[in-house]
Amino acid sequence: MKRLSDQLLALPPSATIAVSNKAKALRASGRDIIILAGGDPNFDTPQHIQEAAFAAVRNGDTHYPGPTKATHASAEAIAAKYERDTGLTIDPSSQVIITPGGKWALNLALNAIVNPGDEVLYLEPVWVSYPPMITLAGGVPVPVSLPSATNFTLTAAMLREKITPRTKAIMVTSPNNPTGRVLTRAEIDDLVAVAIEADLYVIYDELYEQLVYDGEHYPLAAEPGMAERTITINGLSKAYAMTGWRLGWMVAPPAITQLAGKLHSQTVTSASSFGMAALTAALNGDHACVAEMKASYQARRDFMVPALNAIDGIECRSIEGAFYLFPRFTHTTLDSLTLAERLLEEAEVAGTPGIAFGTSGEHHLRFSIATAMVDLEKAVDRLAAVVPTL
Ligand SMILES: Cc1ncc(COP(=O)(O)O)c(C=O)c1O
Repeated sequence: MKRLSDQLLALPPSATIAVSNKAKALRASGRDIIILAGGDPNFDTPQHIQEAAFAAVRNGDTHYPGPTKATHASAEAIAAKYERDTGLTIDPSSQVIITPGGKWALNLALNAIVNPGDEVLYLEPVWVSYPPMITLAGGVPVPVSLPSATNFTLTAAMLREKITPRTKAIMVTSPNNPTGRVLTRAEIDDLVAVAIEADLYVIYDELYEQLVYDGEHYPLAAEPGMAERTITINGLSKAYAMTGWRLGWMVAPPAITQLAGKLHSQTVTSASSFGMAALTAALNGDHACVAEMKASYQARRDFMVPALNAIDGIECRSIEGAFYLFPRFTHTTLDSLTLAERLLEEAEVAGTPGIAFGTSGEHHLRFSIATAMVDLEKAVDRLAAVVPTL
């Protein structure tokens, strides 16, 4: 047989999914494993959003949606949200694409701007999918490693150091997965200054933007000089507990959405028709459900951070947003992969090894708090028994 795709043979599997799968397999074999390795809210999709999808299906909205980018109502809902967030008016018909998950919107964005060999910067610790996405789009992933010692703070100097004539774009997530950091006013100012001086696009991933507990989320497109170079990515997975629905979107200047739209229509065609109805209901509907889920994550954070810090050998900073903690394991020389394996075996707690998010994540594990409080309490007890012995 002839050789299969070298590019895909070389692509690493997702480390977060690998750990979750191993933990799930152990659980299926009868072990009482607490899985803190995923990124999936432990809530049901709010009722009114479910009902909107059921109603769309019953009304026969089960065909190819007419426009591939978005139905009129769903694009309008996104444009209205964008205007509330940024104060900017956009054209819903030419600047919005609804995608099967934010992940596909990120891929569309990269494919619309990257030429072979273009360098794309990303901030480490990084959500595991960015580097492979950049490679698959023909780009060269370039990490900007943010040090754990400064709580992963970004400076303009760190970005400037990595910029070359081939640098095309920067990918940024705020609030961040895995660190829970929300970019501060000063960090946003630095990002904007460098993006403008080096004439870069910024792919700004706001998937966790509704889950900010402290500080403020700054929509990047609202910054002077940024709307024309920002591709805003968002989605329903995290804030609305809709990971399985696969609904996300991008908002970008028309020239970018036009190219991204070509790839979209030639590959997935569109998001699902009744999914777009659910999206419209989610964005236009009552947000008490989001506020309730957010309050739960905040309560879990407020329990977990001091509880983890009370364990000898763990140092855990509080988080401003998203639903991951990123504790550092201070007393052990074990690397994070071995640490994750040992904790899975000995404490029956599954976390994601920090190295999966880049070298500056070493000696950390990521624990998701999108997990029921009873399980978090149990996890803390188990970690308290095992971590000091490592
Ligand atoms: C930072 C970040 N961006 C994007 C996504 C993609 O989410 P989805 O494709 O479910 O919308 C995730 C999911 O974990 C994420 O953590």
